[in-house]
Amino acid sequence: MKVTNHLLFMGALLLISLLTIGFTGLQNSTTLPTIEDTEADEDGEQIYMTRCQSCHMANGEGVQGVFPPVANSPYVSGDKGVLVRMILHGLRGEIVVQDVTYNGMMPPWGGFLNDEQVAKVTTYIRSNFGNDAEAISAEEVAKIRAFVGEKKDAWTWEELSKEDNQGIPDGE
Ligand code: HEC
Repeated sequence: MKVTNHLLFMGALLLISLLTIGFTGLQNSTTLPTIEDTEADEDGEQIYMTRCQSCHMANGEGVQGVFPPVANSPYVSGDKGVLVRMILHGLRGEIVVQDVTYNGMMPPWGGFLNDEQVAKVTTYIRSNFGNDAEAISAEEVAKIRAFVGEKKDAWTWEELSKEDNQGIPDGE
């Protein structure tokens, strides 16, 4: 009889401590950052690792003949407007990067990344992997996004090599 009481007592103690842990756990979780906060804190490298690395690789070298390198790439360190356009609406068709011809398809990122995130990730690749070019701001991305508006198909290099599709528009 005594043993059963003892067990019951221990059981109740265990239950109470579990409830307490559970409750403090819950309380703590309400002070954790929200998804939006996390996104705001995320830096260019983190965006690269989650969105770009799978094709362009952690070292930026890509996969020869399939995914072009962002390392030492004139497209990355060249015209800001061209780079941002590629990221917002994607890229398809032939493009030559470091003497290798690619004819693939990069998905558009404009629906997944906001202006701030596009600015961070493009600035990150422009200042890493052997590239050394000026940063891109969220305002510049916003201007291009507004200027291009809706675009159904991804860009081709043929389109982007035209002056109309380069640079940063003045805005309003
Ligand atoms: C699903 C694979 C894939 C992902 C993910 C991807 N890309 Fe690409 N990217 C490509 C392909 C394929 C091309 C070449 C498209 C073509 O052949 O026209 C390309 C081309 C490029 C180019 C121009 C060529 C060069 O290498 O300089 C840049 C810059 C670029 N991507 C940057 C990015 C950035 C930044 C991200 C992340 C936001 C990203 N890509 C995510 C597949 C991908």
